Amino acid sequence: MSQVQKSTSKKETNVNNHQIIKNEKELNESELLHEIMKRCWGVNFSSPIEQELTIKKDFKVLDVGCGSSGTWLLQLSEDYPLAKFVGVDKTSKFPKDFSQNNLQFIKGDILKGLPFEDDSFDFVHMRFVIMEFTDEQWEDIIIKELVRVCKPGGWIEFLELEESKYLSPSSKRLLALVAEYLEFKGISSDNIMAEGIFDFLDATDQIDTIYTDERLVPIGNWGGDIGKLTLEWNVKMFHTFKNLFVPLRISKDEYEKLLNQYVMEVDYRSYLIFLRICCRKNP
Ligand SMILES: C[S@@+](CC[C@H](N)C(=O)[O-])C[C@H]1O[C@@H](n2cnc3c(N)ncnc32)[C@H](O)[C@@H]1O
Repeated sequence: MSQVQKSTSKKETNVNNHQIIKNEKELNESELLHEIMKRCWGVNFSSPIEQELTIKKDFKVLDVGCGSSGTWLLQLSEDYPLAKFVGVDKTSKFPKDFSQNNLQFIKGDILKGLPFEDDSFDFVHMRFVIMEFTDEQWEDIIIKELVRVCKPGGWIEFLELEESKYLSPSSKRLLALVAEYLEFKGISSDNIMAEGIFDFLDATDQIDTIYTDERLVPIGNWGGDIGKLTLEWNVKMFHTFKNLFVPLRISKDEYEKLLNQYVMEVDYRSYLIFLRICCRKNP
């Protein structure tokens, strides 16, 4: 394996220093999560690409599994008008109502191979897709595809929820349901972010730098504005999961009760750890 540099920075989000922005409209799940990430990092990526993204004409960015709301891409294509942005997702429902002409969405399934030539993009980004793929798919297809379409010297970045800490009894039950659902889909609930992705990247022998960047995000009113947003996002997410979990071993009524209990137990001072992994393809 080539020499891989790894460093970890761990910072607790200082909620008091965050500018308080009131939501003027109700944000959907994806927009809420995007807002939480933006506030806790202050930036939409951790790879060292800001300068090129700002001044280089046709700096090419790919977001894989961009989602039907394309929230990350809509924001970045507006912030960096000289760069070119492409979103790919297996869905065919993409945003239509945007005026940026440096952004396009393409339907594609990474498991069948990304519809791009080798060495096409300066920056390849992927976030919140951990629940979509098995460990084997990460190792055999996904990492290899992302590295393939990235230009030599280009950057690849992942963002995922890594861990939850100090959970209340209801949160533990909800997470056990998530694990059960993942198992049902053949996806391991072990933490692939911490170990797997690092190892799979190393195994390609095409990466010369890797580092991680973590943030601790509080859940609930004790965590100020960001804590309230995170609670709102969690409640929305668990509501969305309801239809997935009900075929498992919990009735709709029981699940509703669990959700109510979850909101009552926010004083447990639980928090989430989000992790970005940034790596550079060999120049
Ligand atoms: C939880 S969403 C995350 C969306 C987006 N990255 C964000 O940050 O809001 C996961 C996305 O991965 C997409 N996805 C799942 N499997 C995929 C595949 N095989 N190829 C491409 N996209 C896929 C889903 O359609 C979904 O839009």
